[in-house]
Amino acid sequence: MLINGPRGTKDILPETVAQWTYVEDVIRNICARYGYHEIRTPIFEHTELFLRGIGETTDVVEKEMYTFTDRGGRSLTLRPENTASVVRSYLQNKLYASDALVKLFYIGSMFRYDRPQAGRYREFHQFGVEALGEENPSVDAEIILLAVEFLRALGLQELRLHLNSVGCPKCRPVYREKLQEFFRPHLAELCEDCQSRFERNPLRLLDCKNAQCHELAEGAPRITDCLCDECRMHFDEVQAYLAATGVTFELDANLVRGLDYYTKTAFEVKYMPLGAQSAVAGGGRYDGLVEEVGGPSTPGIGFAVGLERVLLALEKQGLLPKVHESVDIFIVALGDVAKIPAFKLMQELRMAKISASMDFAGRSMKAQMKQANKKNARFVAILGEDEVKEACVALKDMKTSEQKKVASKDLVSALCVEVKN
Ligand code: HAM
Repeated sequence: MLINGPRGTKDILPETVAQWTYVEDVIRNICARYGYHEIRTPIFEHTELFLRGIGETTDVVEKEMYTFTDRGGRSLTLRPENTASVVRSYLQNKLYASDALVKLFYIGSMFRYDRPQAGRYREFHQFGVEALGEENPSVDAEIILLAVEFLRALGLQELRLHLNSVGCPKCRPVYREKLQEFFRPHLAELCEDCQSRFERNPLRLLDCKNAQCHELAEGAPRITDCLCDECRMHFDEVQAYLAATGVTFELDANLVRGLDYYTKTAFEVKYMPLGAQSAVAGGGRYDGLVEEVGGPSTPGIGFAVGLERVLLALEKQGLLPKVHESVDIFIVALGDVAKIPAFKLMQELRMAKISASMDFAGRSMKAQMKQANKKNARFVAILGEDEVKEACVALKDMKTSEQKKVASKDLVSALCVEVKN
């Protein structure tokens, strides 16, 4: 019986790989412009890292992690996100020693046991950015602009930037209590998930997708009315920096992120035509995370973009580059006698940095020419019995249909000139 890939995973086939590398090129280009350096961390980490980093009461940790025990009895988890891993690496490799502000980016697979649907997978890819070591609100603005400009560089237009502050350990407990007070009389009307969130993570009541919970959340106290002076000032400054650059944003008091490490700035970029999975990027400040993972108190901020969602959006808008396969030369070998000389010629061409291809199955002339056309060959070299005897090829220019005899020993130099033109 055929074995299919696990639910929620996708093969990226050769015809789509070019779309991914196109997006990755845009990422590398924009990160270089903003001064972010690539980091690659392992796909799996000690489970403890995510329990401490992401928070034990989050959906990601409670329901979505791929956790397993290895043969040495250690509990390991496939990374559900990469911020905790980057922070771990920052500490383990003492990256803080090289610079006060360390600016990193990554591209890679993440794993969450989510309910698969369009734009939601169990293995998905993120492009993420983390800036560690600076609490100044200008870094928040830089990070947010980088997220927006990346999406714009791809040509996406209908973007909405949602901005909020989720406070800090000083002001959030006060807000939590206010929120609980507000929801307490309606506890029985909340969905099952929200009833359990009420005690453990009441902020999450604000972004429940259940229609009744959503309605009940209308009129709830706003965190931005409860911020301490420091958080309020920080939030005002982030907005001032953003406003100065002309980027438009919407203040969204209901924006609470699904991971527990956030402090102060939280943001999401939505691409509305994607419907239910419209969040293409999300991030925020996490000034307590480095300490949580065992390091000294160090501020940090970052975001991650869901690349599958970006590709879906690009596809919807017809913004994906069309890639046509092409080859400089296709060698048509006719008959047994031509097989080895044709193969030798192909190797010589390839060694001369010319892309060359041939048929390996000894098909008819017509079938081989069909293949050459399919591969968009710029030239075709035909080798039959006569050409082998004369040590030459019949070289056909597929643009002009002109055909001429070229000595095999001169083919590389003749093509080097032609292919460059
Ligand atoms: P997140 O909001 O959990 O944040 O994920 C970021 C983005 O990853 C989402 O906006 C979405 O586009 C994409 N994404 C999440 N889950 C899935 C899924 N199951 N299938 C497809 N795409 C998905 C984080 O991961 C944080 N680490 C971001 C961050 C970095 N915050 C600070 N630094």
